[in-house]
Amino acid sequence: MDLLIQTIKEEGIVLSDSVLKVDSFLNHQINPQLMFEIGKEFANRFKEDGITKIVTIESSGIAPSVMAGLQLGIPVIFARKKKSLTLVNDLLTAKVYSFTKQESNDISVSKKYINENDRVLIIDDFLANGQAAIGLAEIVKQANAEIAGIGIVIEKGFQSGGKLLREQGYRVESLATIHSLNEGKVTFTLDKTEEAVR
Ligand code: G4P
Repeated sequence: MDLLIQTIKEEGIVLSDSVLKVDSFLNHQINPQLMFEIGKEFANRFKEDGITKIVTIESSGIAPSVMAGLQLGIPVIFARKKKSLTLVNDLLTAKVYSFTKQESNDISVSKKYINENDRVLIIDDFLANGQAAIGLAEIVKQANAEIAGIGIVIEKGFQSGGKLLREQGYRVESLATIHSLNEGKVTFTLDKTEEAVR
């Protein structure tokens, strides 16, 4: 997605060989116009798939998910990472280990909002090691709903998550795939042609 790649090039800050900071449009300040276009792109890629719900995880998955939900005309559910005062009964839960942060979170969603008739699109902001997406998939499976695919805003192609999820048979659609962050420079893997890098 050209607009996203352009924005990453202009505003992304390479913090190390493995971490890209995108606080100016995705992780802290949010660019609504860009999010709108991201939502349109997800909706376009999954419009033939009979999606009934989007499931994401707080906090940075929410903005792109809401925009996709708006375009597809379907609700968005976000998994919570912390216990909520009001979300206590009848929960679907999964454990998510973050290699980046070296901590585990129990994520949860109310049983009320996902059921066996749902076809779910999972969306998240970053795909690194894939643990958040696997946790969300686990929750959707507990509800006996179907997983139609996984939509990712930025995939770090040099980490293991994309391979892991695709090997498990999931359709993963990433709007920008980063080939490398080496030497302070962002290079991208182009759609379809895995070798092509810009
Ligand atoms: P994984 O789910 O793919 O295994 O990812 P991992 O545990 O490594 O990531 C933990 C958190 O760090 C997630 O956000 C993830 O989105 C974020 N993250 C991973 N790599 C990068 C990166 O290169 N740049 C940025 N900006 N974020 C990255 P989180 O803690 O859940 O944050 P938030 O959603 O509340 O903002």
